Order: sequence, then structure tokens, then C-alpha cells
Amino acid sequence: MAIQIKTPPMGWNHWNYFGWEHLDEKALLETVDAMAEKGFRDAGYKYVCIDDTWMIRGRDENGDLVADPRRFPSGMKYIGDYIHSKGMLFGLYAGAGVLTYANCEGSYGRERQDAKKFAEWGVDLLKYDCGYLAPGTDVPHLFRRMGQALRESGRDILFSGCYGHTEVVDWMRSVGANMWRLSGDINDSWASVIRVAKNAMGVGHVAGANGWNDPDMMVIGLEGEGWAGRVNGGNGCTLAEYQTHFALWCMLAAPLLMGHDVRTTKPEIAEILLNRELIEINQDSLGIQGYLLPAMSNGDLILAKPLDGGDIAFCLVNDTDARKKMILSWHYCGWEVTDTVYLRDCINHKDAGEFTCGTFVELDPHSCAVYRAKRV
Ligand code: GLA
Repeated sequence: MAIQIKTPPMGWNHWNYFGWEHLDEKALLETVDAMAEKGFRDAGYKYVCIDDTWMIRGRDENGDLVADPRRFPSGMKYIGDYIHSKGMLFGLYAGAGVLTYANCEGSYGRERQDAKKFAEWGVDLLKYDCGYLAPGTDVPHLFRRMGQALRESGRDILFSGCYGHTEVVDWMRSVGANMWRLSGDINDSWASVIRVAKNAMGVGHVAGANGWNDPDMMVIGLEGEGWAGRVNGGNGCTLAEYQTHFALWCMLAAPLLMGHDVRTTKPEIAEILLNRELIEINQDSLGIQGYLLPAMSNGDLILAKPLDGGDIAFCLVNDTDARKKMILSWHYCGWEVTDTVYLRDCINHKDAGEFTCGTFVELDPHSCAVYRAKRV
């Protein structure tokens, strides 16, 4: 049976915080425990994903990939079993070339053998990345090889394609990928968050069940720390920016992969990531990616996401550096301008009231409002 990913995958990936060689077995298992204890698992964050540098360069006597024995002494099967015992799913990383991005062993030419091993270890998600390819490489072909190997592996493994170019939307679904990165690496800054989000807005038409646009793993809660936190001089995003980041990922039907150190999650960060009203929008069963409303004369950035049952989620984002009054109007969404619409404020968890013709919303720089709208 082929894998069915009806709503965007949710979970955590090690890269944005731990980065290159800074994750070990102890920290990983503690993260698994924290995911369960802090309510992330029960909110839907199920995939616990180990990214690059888990393996050494080279293979064992059987030609298999080898987990770095210094950092993962018990091996990957042990980790997979532990994650499963806590009711979560196991994600692992591999490279489509001869080396991964971080110079570890790649899978090229060994796809079937590696896919079999991943299945044996209990892997549920494979992030397949492209490092150091020779010029002229047929990239879709590399992914097609692993897609086929996964289908023959005997286990349902979500195939997460990572090749940071927006054009991948033309072929990723056809190689069997279930999600695909659209751009280069995110970092913990407003400029980066809004850049990758806007990039994803242009390709919403390809997203849906079994194939999701991936703007990248989230940076919420890094606060200038860790791999993707320090890149930008360690300033990090503000809390309002993290809130907008989360709202955008939910509206874009993006995979929700947390990136911070879950073990030390601050309450205000947990509040953002555990917002059930926003998660519901992300996980809506229609699986439609939010689309941009035509910009009014003042260039308002407003997304609309049709939801199962006829509701529409609206997200207004002030992407300018000054406070801004924005106009929400629903006549581009299939409703009449004269319709009366009830708005539920999904960030503050309260009723915003009933409106006819639309409404004004005033927002601080880089902040957002999200409404779940119902025609009355
Ligand atoms: C690339 C990917 C990142 C991460 C690193 C690991 O840069 O885009 O998400 O997986 O490789 O080396």
C-alpha cells in the first residue's frame, strides 16, 4: 500500500538548532521525551527527524551506511524503536549524491540497499537532499531512483524531497515525493522567513494530498541560538515575527516541522506552536494551500484558505516596517461583498464579531491577524 499523507506532516527536525554534528543520542532521546511531555506529540507533531551528519563517511563491510558511533552508539534501530515506543514517527536524512551536504556518505548507486536498511530501522520519513552534484546532473533522475527504492523497501516511508529550487514543483510529485523544499535554507530572521514564505505563495496550485510545498523547517523559538539562529548574527526574530511565521506556515498548508530545542521550550513559544485553531487550519482535510488576494492599492498581504465545510481562513500580514491599516474584503473568495460574515480571531481565541462588506484591521510591523470566517 502506498503511503497516504492527507494533511501536511508535523514534527521536529534537528537541523535548525543542533546543526552540524551537534546532535547526539542523549539529546535526541530527551527531545523525544519533551515532545510527549510538553504536549507537542498530542497536538500532532509526530515526526522526530534526524538530519545530516548522523552517518560517517564510508560504509561498513556489508556496504551499509554507518551511524557515527561517537554520537549514536546504540545505532539507528534503537532510536527508531524508542521514538515508536513513545507514539511518534522516525525521520532520517540521506543524500542523493555520493556525499551529503555535510560531506557524509551519500546514497547514489546504493539507493535500494539504503532504503531497505531504513525500512529495517523503522524509518517513517526520509529527507532526501542534494549536495555537491556534478554540473549537468539529472536531479529528477536521482530522486526517481530513491522514490522507486522506497516503494520497494517494504515499509511506508514519507519521501521528503530537498533540492532548494522552486522549479522542483514541476517534477517532485512525479518522482513520488510527498513534500518538497522550494528554496535555500531558512535562518532565524524576519527577512528570511518572509522571503521563503512569499516564494511558496507563487506555487500553491501544486500542493495537496500526498504532495506539499515546503518553505523549510520552522525557526520559531530559536531566539538567535543554534545553527540557523546564529547565522544571522544571533538576533533572531521577535515574538510577533514568530507568530506571523507560524500563521503563514499554517495558511500555506506547509509541513510544520519545529526547529528549536524542544527541551527548553519557553511558554510563549509553546503557545504559538500549540495554537490548535491555527493547526486546524493547517491540517484542514481539503488540503488547499492559502492563496493571495489581489493586492489593493496599498499592497496588503492577505492570504485566504478555503476550508472543509465552507469556512475560509484569512491571514493578514503587515510586511512593512510601519504600523498599517489593512482592508479585509471577501469578494474575491466566492462570497458577495454584501454577505454578512462572522470572524473568529484564531490568535487571541475570541470572537471578532459579524461584518458586512469587510473590515479594517490595524497591525504592527511584521505582525498578523488570522480569522476563521463563516458566512451567516
Ligand atoms: C541542506 C538542507 C538543510 C540541511 C542541510 C544538511 O542545506 O537544505 O535543510 O538538511 O543541507 O547538511
